Amino acid sequence: MPSDIKLRAEIRRYDPAVDSEPRYEAYEVAGKDNWRVLDVICFIYEHQAGDLAYQFACRVGRCGTCGVKVNGVPVLACQERCKPEMRIEPLTPFPVLRDLVVDRSEVEARYEQHALAPQRATAYAGGPEAIEPQLAEALCHMNSCLACMVCVSGCPAVAERAFDGPAFILKLRHMAKHPADTGTRLAQAVDAGMLECFGCDLCTQLCPADLSPAQAIREFRREIILGGSAAHD
Ligand code: FES
Repeated sequence: MPSDIKLRAEIRRYDPAVDSEPRYEAYEVAGKDNWRVLDVICFIYEHQAGDLAYQFACRVGRCGTCGVKVNGVPVLACQERCKPEMRIEPLTPFPVLRDLVVDRSEVEARYEQHALAPQRATAYAGGPEAIEPQLAEALCHMNSCLACMVCVSGCPAVAERAFDGPAFILKLRHMAKHPADTGTRLAQAVDAGMLECFGCDLCTQLCPADLSPAQAIREFRREIILGGSAAHD
């Protein structure tokens, strides 16, 4: 049985259209200890701050739209358990549209640009293509990225250097492993700033979909060492 719990949430409020600078507003919430962060945000919106801007769609960890920072750590709000004391902020480094809603349009355009379909040597003939089951399983898993940008937000290299971020490299690695793909994915990964990665593994630790962008980066780096021969290993 969930227990009653007193929660205190400080939320970063900022409307660039009217506010000269951001501020933090504190809310006291009588909740349950099994609430997710999104439950707390929704409660605050419904009972205390009807003008609070936030974003979500599925509530089950599938749409990837509810990312926020909680006590400095990027998470999916619908999946992260609430804590008695929380500072809730929008995902960095994205421009804030209002409160917890960030502008992902530029990053989504880049993601689309990286998330290419296989570039084929011959035109797609239609219908299912034979693919080795173990590889198919690995590709399906890699393709389950939510594009939530939690890993990008948590990446210290993105914060400091010209690096598009771990999610993009994972997408490129997915294509590099696809047997029908003839694209120059390693070169794209280098262009996206992959060599700026610190190798800290934080992206993998943060990924709500249990994916490993860090492993994708390691595989590309191994490919560089081996002279571009390891993509389909
Ligand atoms: S609301 Fe869809 S992932 Fe959280």
